[in-house]
Amino acid sequence: MPDSLPLLITGAGQRIGLYCAERLLDDGQPVIVSYRREREGVERLRQRGAVTIQADFSSEAGILAFIDTLKGAAPRLRGIVHNASAWLPDAPDPAEAFRQMVQVHMLAPYLINLHCAELLQHGGPADIVHISDDVTRKGSTRHIAYAASKAGLDNLTLSFAARLAPGVKVNGIAPALIQFNEGDDEAYRQKALDKSLLGFEPGAAVIYQSLRYLLDIPYLTGSILAVNGGRHLR
Ligand SMILES: NC(=O)c1ccc[n+]([C@@H]2O[C@H](COP(=O)([O-])OP(=O)(O)OC[C@H]3O[C@@H](n4cnc5c(N)ncnc54)[C@H](OP(=O)(O)O)[C@@H]3O)[C@@H](O)[C@H]2O)c1
Repeated sequence: MPDSLPLLITGAGQRIGLYCAERLLDDGQPVIVSYRREREGVERLRQRGAVTIQADFSSEAGILAFIDTLKGAAPRLRGIVHNASAWLPDAPDPAEAFRQMVQVHMLAPYLINLHCAELLQHGGPADIVHISDDVTRKGSTRHIAYAASKAGLDNLTLSFAARLAPGVKVNGIAPALIQFNEGDDEAYRQKALDKSLLGFEPGAAVIYQSLRYLLDIPYLTGSILAVNGGRHLR
C-alpha cells in the first residue's frame, strides 16, 4: 500500500539520494527533494512528479529559507531523510572545512527536525532517517572534521528518537564504502575494497534497502544500521 504523504530527501540530485528518490517513486511514494546545484537527475525527478526545492545548507539563512519553502509545499510529511553531505579534507583550511560540514551534517538536520517535527506528528507512520557514516566508529586521520560532524549526526539520532517518540521513529544508516567517486584511482579503490569482509562496491541499492527497512519496521527507533560489509570485523 503506497503512502500518500510525501517523503523529503535532502541532497537528492545525484548518486545515493537520487537513487533512493527514484526507487521510492517506483514504490508509489511521493517525494520532495532538496538539491543544491541543478543536475540532470533533478530534472528527471521533476518529470516523474517529485517536488524539487533548491537549497544550500551552508548558512543558517539558507537552512531556514528551505524550511519555509518546505512548509509551504507540504503541510504533512511521511518522513525526512537527511542525505545531503559534504566530504571535505581537513587541509588546506581546517576551520572552514569543519564549519561547512557541521552546517550540512548537523545544523541542517537539527533545525529541519526541530522546525518540521509538527509536519510528522499526524498519527500515521512517520520517520526521520539520518545518513551518517561508518567512519564514526573509529574516527579518521585524514578526515577528522568529516568524521566528527557525522558523529554529531549519530548523536542527533539518539536525542530526536527520544524527543519525538512515539509518533516519529528516528534512526540512522551508517554506510561504509557504497559507491566510489569518479576520480578514485585503482589503488584507492582496492584499498577501500580490502577494508570490508565482503569486499565489493555494493552501490546505492543497499542504502535504498536499508531505508525501506527503516520505513517499514514499526518497532525500531534510536538505532543506527551499520551497512559496512563487515568492516568492523577487519
Ligand atoms: N558514497 C559512499 O560510498 C558513502 C559512504 C559513506 C557514507 N555515505 C553517505 O551517504 C550519503 C549519500 O552519499 P553520496 O555519495 O551520494 O553523496 P554526495 O553525492 O557526495 O552528496 C549528496 C548531495 O549533498 C549535496 N550537498 C553538499 N553540500 C551541500 C550544501 N551545503 N547544501 C545543500 N546540499 C549539499 C550535494 O549537492 P550538489 O548536487 O549541489 O553537489 C550532493 O548532491 C551522504 O550522507 C554520505 O555521507 C556515502
